[in-house]
Amino acid sequence: MCGIIGYVGSKPAVDILKDALTRLEYRGYDSAGIATIADDTLHLCKDKGKVAEVIKNCNIDNLPGYTGIGHVRWATHGGVTRDNAHPHCDAISQIAVVHNGIIENFEALKSRLVKKYHFKSDTDTEVIPHLIREQVDAGLSFEEAFFAAIRQLQGSYALIAVSTLADGKLFAARKDSPMVLGLGKDANFIGSDVLSFLPYSREAVYIEDGECVVMTKNTYQIYDLNHTPKKRESVAITWNLSEAGKDNQDHFMIKEIKEQPFVIRQAMMQDTRLLNRMAIDILRAHQVIFVACGTSRFAALIGRYVFSKIGHTFSDVVMASEFGYFSDSVDKNTMVIAISQSGETADVMDGVKQAKAKGATVYSIVNVEGSSLARMSDKALYLSCGPEIGVAATKSFTAQLCLLYLLAFAMDGRLSEGKEKLLEISSLIEKDLQTNLSEISLIAEKLKDKRDFYFLARGINFAMAGEGALKLKEVCYVHAEGMPAGELKHGTLALIEEGTPVIAICPTDYTYTDTISNISEAMVRGATVIGISNANQSIFAEWIKIPEVEMIFYPLVTVIPLQLLAYHSAIVRGFDPDKPRNLAKSVTVK
Ligand code: F6R
Repeated sequence: MCGIIGYVGSKPAVDILKDALTRLEYRGYDSAGIATIADDTLHLCKDKGKVAEVIKNCNIDNLPGYTGIGHVRWATHGGVTRDNAHPHCDAISQIAVVHNGIIENFEALKSRLVKKYHFKSDTDTEVIPHLIREQVDAGLSFEEAFFAAIRQLQGSYALIAVSTLADGKLFAARKDSPMVLGLGKDANFIGSDVLSFLPYSREAVYIEDGECVVMTKNTYQIYDLNHTPKKRESVAITWNLSEAGKDNQDHFMIKEIKEQPFVIRQAMMQDTRLLNRMAIDILRAHQVIFVACGTSRFAALIGRYVFSKIGHTFSDVVMASEFGYFSDSVDKNTMVIAISQSGETADVMDGVKQAKAKGATVYSIVNVEGSSLARMSDKALYLSCGPEIGVAATKSFTAQLCLLYLLAFAMDGRLSEGKEKLLEISSLIEKDLQTNLSEISLIAEKLKDKRDFYFLARGINFAMAGEGALKLKEVCYVHAEGMPAGELKHGTLALIEEGTPVIAICPTDYTYTDTISNISEAMVRGATVIGISNANQSIFAEWIKIPEVEMIFYPLVTVIPLQLLAYHSAIVRGFDPDKPRNLAKSVTVK
């Protein structure tokens, strides 16, 4: 959940690292810091706060040198304080380390090290520079000391170390946390993702679990933990810089919402043979289980409906963090479909590892190329929606739905028909976006003081109620519940009072009549009903009009107003929708 970056090259490190941290900020924004090496001295600046605040308050520009590391933090161990910010150093400030992950045995290590060295923070990470120091003090070279220290760590880590004892080299290690090396001209980079060094490199080398790297500006060498060299080819980076910018929009979230018509067209450009192959394997499996978290799980819930309605195949959805408790029923005839934007979510990775250990086939639907999930899966479909930087998932959800529709149509032997239908939907969404933008900001303004929201829907639209509520919670910090409309009367109705906003997702499909009847029950008890539908209804206090489409495609058209409602509600309440409190984009801890 943190972002790390290391640079060694011929330009001042601080300029590159500041820029990288700004682009990594979506991974964590509790605190930030940079350490560089120059003239046999370690130079350090760090503090709590967002990257821009830390850069402004910390005199970061004065850090000299051509080798350095940087970090943005999403706190796990230890509160949000300057002392807990990374980089962390050894007691005599010769070694600095940045880390993403959790060192599970840090208490045992610390209880030994604290007798020899002074600790300044409450973090698990701080054991790492002290461990390296201990090995140096025992007479090892810095390189040997680094490997000896890493071998003592348990847990997950992507970490980078610099030292005055290391001839300007960068040292890095990875286990269960993403790490990728970027090759540049007279410069090498290593970071949590390619976005961190995108302007400077078009060539990446993905580091695997249990590997370490030693880098200079012109060389890199990968090793296993026993210090045995390994070879790895580089791959081209396909993302481009313009995709990673805000494109004159106020926030990434709105830019990414507006991109969705294009995202649908882009997601459709799949390898037809691969889709058909995967569809056949899904049909042959004895059981099909989707594994995902958060927004990706809501996409999976819709996948379950379309696999049934179009592909005539029953499947189930298991929340990734709960998957382990069901692994007894997984075997070699099981098809696990893992859905993840980042491809790095620890809960998903954990589920997939367990499924593989039981012999299951694992297919994934993922956005980030080269991500751990993509590399671990038997086959992967890419969302191709470009980098999603807003912390709240928007365009990746729509792209996930597209791929699930395509798979379902392929399962029914109607892939071309499915593609044509999706193309029509993308044009409808394009028109709809124009009209919905201003209208929804007015509704958001009217709901500005509300603290409790209920999102209701039935059937295939139920997952949209969940997704709409999740978006609002994430960016507006209000209580929001998404539930099947029929469940309301079984308890939650007691919470409805005068003026409680109820968002009803009720297109005129097979769910319409029953949903309207459930919403009426809420309305007569005082609820203010905001209807998202292709048809107006007298019980709606506000009507958000959506285009009329074939029933199974309603999730693709209802998602846009739900996302816009969350976005505008955040804006009218004065919150930054791109950096919701307590959250970060990629959840790489369990
Ligand atoms: C919601 C959101 C999260 C993610 C979840 C899974 O807007 O962003 O709920 O959907 O953490 O992330 P991925 O898809 O990267 O596995």
